[in-house]
This record gives sequence, C-alpha cells and structure tokens, in this order.
Amino acid sequence: MHAPYPALRLRRTRAAAWSRRLYAETVLTPADLIWPLFISDGQGVEEPIASLPGVSRWSVDGIVARAKEARDLGIPCVALFPNTQPNLRTDDGREALNPDNLMCRAIRAIKDAAPEIGVLTDVALDPYTAHGHDGLVDDRGYVMNDATVEVLVGQALNQAGAGADIIAPSDMMDGRIGRVRDALEGAGHHNVQIMAYAAKYASAFYGPFRDAVGSRELLKGDKKTYQMDPANAEEAIREVGLDLSEGADSVMVKPGLPYLDIVRRVKDAFEVPVFAYQVSGEYAMIEAAVAAGAAERDPMVLETLMAFKRAGCSGVLTYHAAHAARLLNA
Ligand code: PBG
Repeated sequence: MHAPYPALRLRRTRAAAWSRRLYAETVLTPADLIWPLFISDGQGVEEPIASLPGVSRWSVDGIVARAKEARDLGIPCVALFPNTQPNLRTDDGREALNPDNLMCRAIRAIKDAAPEIGVLTDVALDPYTAHGHDGLVDDRGYVMNDATVEVLVGQALNQAGAGADIIAPSDMMDGRIGRVRDALEGAGHHNVQIMAYAAKYASAFYGPFRDAVGSRELLKGDKKTYQMDPANAEEAIREVGLDLSEGADSVMVKPGLPYLDIVRRVKDAFEVPVFAYQVSGEYAMIEAAVAAGAAERDPMVLETLMAFKRAGCSGVLTYHAAHAARLLNA
C-alpha cells in the first residue's frame, strides 16, 4: 500500500491566504447574528451591567438607536429583554400581559423607527415575577406547568400585538409551543414566527443575564424542575421533536459553546433551522480572559462564532453581535 505522504500534503491548501479563503468550508457574516438587548425604564438612560462588561441596559430611545445600529451593520434581528421596575414584579407576573409594558413599548418604537429589522421577544415570566421564576409557583415553590402556559399564551399575544416578529418561548414548560401557535393563528398572526428555546439547560452560565433583568437576587431556588439536566442529550432530541411537531419554525440550543454536540445532533436528526444562544456567562468568560491579558478579543469572538456555524447553526444570539459585525464588515 502506497503511503499517502508525500503525495498528499494537507498543508498545501493552507499555504496562502487566498487558498485558505477558497477552501473555507464555513462562512460567518453579520446575517448570522442576533443581538440581545436589555431595556430599562426612563429616557436617555444607559446603565452599564457590571457582570457583563461592555453591555448596558438602554431606555427605549437607546434601544431604538441600537436597533438602527444593528440594521446598518447588517444584523437581521435583535432580541429584547426588559428590566421591569421592582414595584411591577408580582407573584403572578401580570405585568407581562400589560400592552404598555416596557417590552411592548420597545417593540413598537423599533418597528416605527426601523421596520426593516426583525424583533425577537422572549416569552417567560422571570423579568416580571417577584420570585424570579419563569412561571407561576404553587405553595411549595413548584413551577406549575399548565397554569403557566395559559399566562405565556397571553404574553405571546401581547408581544405579537405590539409587532414582534419572532416569539421565542424560553420557559421550558411542556406543551407551550402548540398553545402559543394556536393562539397566534387564532389572532391572525399567521406570519409571526416561533423560535423555540427547545433544548435549554439548567445552566450556571446565566448569572450575568439575571443581573441584567434584575431577577438574580429574587430567584428562589433553581430552575432544575423545568430546564434540562446538562447530563442529557437524547432528551434534547425529544424536546426538539415535540416543539417542531407543535409548530416551531426554528429551534434553539442554549447555552452555546458547551452544548455544540447538541447543536450537531439536532441538526443531523431533524435538518431544520437551529440557532444557539452564546449566553451571558460565555460572554463574561471571554471578556474576563481579555481583561486578564489571557486572550485577544477579536480573534476569539470570531472563532467562537464560526464554531457555531460549523456545528450547524443558522445563526447565533450573542452579546458580541455588533462588535463581530464591525469586524466582519471591515
Ligand atoms: C429567561 C431567560 C434566561 C436567559 C434567556 N432567557 C435566563 C434563565 O433562564 O434563567 C439567559 C440568557 C443569558 O444568560 O444570556 N427565561
């Protein structure tokens, strides 16, 4: 048998920049990015988030400016998360149903000022509840499934009514995708998409996000009775299969980098659009490494985002979206 070397040298195609470009199997562009934004009350407000260095909450006017910035950078979509005022947080999270809540005001303002950009909205009650959970809790602190789904349906209709383009339920209740889809159809929102947080894990990587939406100190216990066990992959396939059968247009895996095996398995099993969320703790780890002089930001950001594409993602939610788009457009 003839040994492949020296006839075959895989370094040949890597020898020059033009050739590396020619042989690249994966491309990353600003069109692959969704930019998560945190909304705060008021006017002209920017509140830096200490555990997410470089990320701020913005009042609605600032959110509109960020949405225009995203549009101008070629980012197709922004994702919105409100930091609800403490006095509006209740055990039943009813502020989620208020047509004039912070979320709805931000959706309307973006759709007025920059209708070309997609607006994705999170469906879950954690920014609105006094106990920090994504749903309604019973007297033992258990998050009740079916009662929560009823409220989530109302929340989704409220967001769609304000002009949301993609409803993204992040709560992990059973059966909510089908119920939300039915309600959207019933209300005439035929083209409002659903991106299901289908495989969302009970993760230690969400801490800075909970600071950003003000739920960290409020949260009683953990979310392990509804979010998935990091030990499980087969179960992710079941979750995704159910959400697709209930009408999800696309599915999400979350967190991102530690779960790329799940992205790949989902993509191979279903051949549907898969997104991943490079979550707050992942962003914070990169920024901490940069601050410590242990890594260079720009190549690390681009390498991690490329990894999502290589694993099979159609796109990535990332707090580095604007920065990455600037690098990609340069
Ligand atoms: C709310 C929600 C969370 C995130 C997105 N939607 C937090 C949680 O489930 O506790 C996390 C995003 C991030 O960490 O960047 N259900």
